[in-house]
Amino acid sequence: MIKKLFEIAGEQKKDLRKGTVLTVIESLFAGAPLFILYLTLNELFSASIDTQKVMFMVIGMGACFVLQGIFFYWASIVNNKAGLRIMSDLRIRLGEHIRKLSMGFFSDRETGDLNNIINQDVKNIEPVPSHFYPLLVAAIVLPLFIASFLFFIDWRMALATISVIPAALISLKVSQNILKRLAKQRAKSASIANSRIIEYVQGISVIKAFNQTGSGFKKFEVAMADYKKTNVDLVVKVAPLLVAFQAILELGIAIILLCGSYLFLGGELSLTVFLLFLVLGLRVYAPIQNIFEYIAIMRIMDASMERVLEVLNREPLPEPDYDPELDRFELEFKDVWFRYEDTDVLKGVSFTVPQNTITALVGPSGSGKTTIAHLIARFWDVDSGEILVDGRNIKDMKTDRLLSYIAMVFQDVYLFNDSIVNNIRFGNKDATKEEVIAAAKAAQCHEFIEKLPDGYDTIIGEGGATLSGGERQRIAIARAMLKDAPIVILDEATAYVDPENEILIQGAINSLVRSKTLIIIAHRLSTITTADQILVIDGGKVIEHGRHSELVSRDGLYKRFWEKRQKARGWKITKV
Ligand SMILES: Nc1ncnc2c1ncn2[C@@H]1O[C@H](COP(=O)(O)OP(=O)(O)OP(=O)(O)O)[C@@H](O)[C@H]1O
Ligand SMILES: [Mg+2]
Repeated sequence: MIKKLFEIAGEQKKDLRKGTVLTVIESLFAGAPLFILYLTLNELFSASIDTQKVMFMVIGMGACFVLQGIFFYWASIVNNKAGLRIMSDLRIRLGEHIRKLSMGFFSDRETGDLNNIINQDVKNIEPVPSHFYPLLVAAIVLPLFIASFLFFIDWRMALATISVIPAALISLKVSQNILKRLAKQRAKSASIANSRIIEYVQGISVIKAFNQTGSGFKKFEVAMADYKKTNVDLVVKVAPLLVAFQAILELGIAIILLCGSYLFLGGELSLTVFLLFLVLGLRVYAPIQNIFEYIAIMRIMDASMERVLEVLNREPLPEPDYDPELDRFELEFKDVWFRYEDTDVLKGVSFTVPQNTITALVGPSGSGKTTIAHLIARFWDVDSGEILVDGRNIKDMKTDRLLSYIAMVFQDVYLFNDSIVNNIRFGNKDATKEEVIAAAKAAQCHEFIEKLPDGYDTIIGEGGATLSGGERQRIAIARAMLKDAPIVILDEATAYVDPENEILIQGAINSLVRSKTLIIIAHRLSTITTADQILVIDGGKVIEHGRHSELVSRDGLYKRFWEKRQKARGWKITKV
């Protein structure tokens, strides 16, 4: 548990250690007055009282209190600062790390789960370094210090005092094992509950449209009930052990009383020492009683730490040390095989896209077109074969460098809950407002943006919910245009193929791709016919390739596809 804390502390380990040392010193000053008290009592009960000595001891005791106060203050400052730094560093480290992971990591997990780790688990850990960890250190050091002092006074009574501790520790250990398991379950069910909330809220329009409010809500309700159950379980199963732990420690006082009376009556123990043990016995047990609570809380947080560390320790895609700059941007797939899970999605795909040409990928839904686009940007690594840019395997390039060469417009455009200008500026954060407007004009979105209430400063809802699909795509094109990367990958969305949008988007694409290497997953006829090369993808393979005129003259999938498209187009135009 402590090891994990230090692992999470990262670069702040030093501060955490400093805080620990200060807390230990603070505990020593908290225990020292008891020692002085004993010496003072001894002096007071002795035959000849040396008042100067007593005065000296009283001053010493006062000094201990003051020093304890100072160290307490110092330790709190160091611990709190370390805690806050650890947490802010941790959030940044997580963000940085996630960016480098393969996209496989994200599809393996539910969004709510990752969200829960970054938000809830990190928040759970928050009070550990600044609060519970120092309390735990103090709760361990103080009893140890007092107990060793007790041995110094009377070893028999000291043994009696600590005799219950092993039994208490056993019950602590048992509760730890149970807690560990239950805390993990709790974290998991919290995560599921969170995923269900997100799913419920995000899917609310579908749920309403299909009149499934009842069953949609049911799933959500079940997850909440499960979360409640794991919490109740945690309390119900751990409470008896807590009671046992407390009872064992209470028994300690009875043992001190018994043993003390025996020795006292036998004339082997002075009344002062007997009373001192009765008082100090409580000072040994009180912090130990707290340990149970701190460890229980830290256990729950331990489950969170484990989940955070699992993400942090996940290996990022391997990257080379050297980082060559490229000046030509020819792209080549060489016998690429790829699978997400069990079945191959790409089965030996090979093609070349010469620099500054347009390649259109067409093919049925699910044939692997988007996958090809994602592999170029190295969201995943290929299973076998190679993807080359300028003859260099993309695995031999730093991902940041590779991505700087690529501008992508995804099939499902994601826009941030921010102003339009910032969303476009995402393509190049140094762009001026004029450059943003120029890109928007070229991407044919200037007109509709101007009509919005706050123009370029209009805030669009999360995911771009307040814009139409076609508008979102054009904003994404403006974003890609601003990036001005030599390779452009455009995954057109099928949904927006109405004639007006087609003309607008085509205009946007034409200005985007001037002297660029373009790969376009095309659904629009105009893009397909003007492409330098068309690759027909079916079942993860390139089954035909050539120019439009060549492909329509062959009797293949492309010809059928083309005929169907033309019919659809005719239907659309008459409809409009
Ligand atoms: N993240 C993923 N995890 C597992 N399987 C996936 C994942 N993404 C896609 N697939 C599967 O891989 C196959 C190819 O998907 P891909 O998205 O490349 O198709 P596509 O040709 O782009 O289809 P569309 O025209 O509908 O966009 C599909 O069977 C799909 O279910
Ligand atoms: Mg696709």
